Amino acid sequence: MGDSVLPPPRHIAIIMDGNGRWAKSRGLPRTAGHAAGAEAFRRIANYCRSLGVEYLTVYAFSTENWRRSGEEITGIMGLLEKYLREALADMDKNRVRFRFFGDLSRLSEKLRALCRDAENRSGSYDVQVNFCLNYGGRDEIVRAARAFAQAAARGAADPEALTEETFSGYLYSAGVPDPELIIRPSGEKRISNFLLWQAAYAEFVFQDILWPDYQPEDLDAAIAEYHRRSRRFGGA
Ligand code: FPP
Repeated sequence: MGDSVLPPPRHIAIIMDGNGRWAKSRGLPRTAGHAAGAEAFRRIANYCRSLGVEYLTVYAFSTENWRRSGEEITGIMGLLEKYLREALADMDKNRVRFRFFGDLSRLSEKLRALCRDAENRSGSYDVQVNFCLNYGGRDEIVRAARAFAQAAARGAADPEALTEETFSGYLYSAGVPDPELIIRPSGEKRISNFLLWQAAYAEFVFQDILWPDYQPEDLDAAIAEYHRRSRRFGGA
């Protein structure tokens, strides 16, 4: 653990996948898989901080996840509330700050208030966690296009002057550098509407391990793979 000599990427993004299968293989309800997934998140967020990763973006709930059962949705939302309540209490000690990517308007008022409190807390921090909540990559791009069009219609933006960089400023991720490494555990090899715009130049690492089992050693392996590839393709 921690034996990679090369610095980690500045920004790592993770699709926390495999909670349901983890629970099923143990004869447990899916919610138990999400609870174990939340523990894995704590473990890996702490490890990222100790490695000096500046941004960690995680897919916690997608725009498609509303199709799941009411019980499962309530379970995931409850875990997020519990986590944020605890994180708010320990924010100065943990030196983490939070941003939320997604349309929070569909979340409960209680959860929205926690997200707002977490985002508004200032102070020094070592790592920024971006929680993707009710997030979809296409939805993010459509919202950005709409916001730009509205700005253009009122004369506050010039369509001729639009660049990739200025468009990025309309996304949820405004101001955050793109992830260099995107990890998907659980054996699935799809992007599933995650960070579509921001993934343009990212390295993808797919690992055959369920998210609740994910350990710091697995992140080391993903980072080592990232370095092998960026050394091989790293331009002249
Ligand atoms: C994907 O696994 C996971 C999710 C849809 C939810 C992720 C949520 C958490 C890890 C808990 C959130 C709380 C915190 C504090 C991070 P899946 O259910 O699709 O797994 P499967 O593909 O095996 O069914």
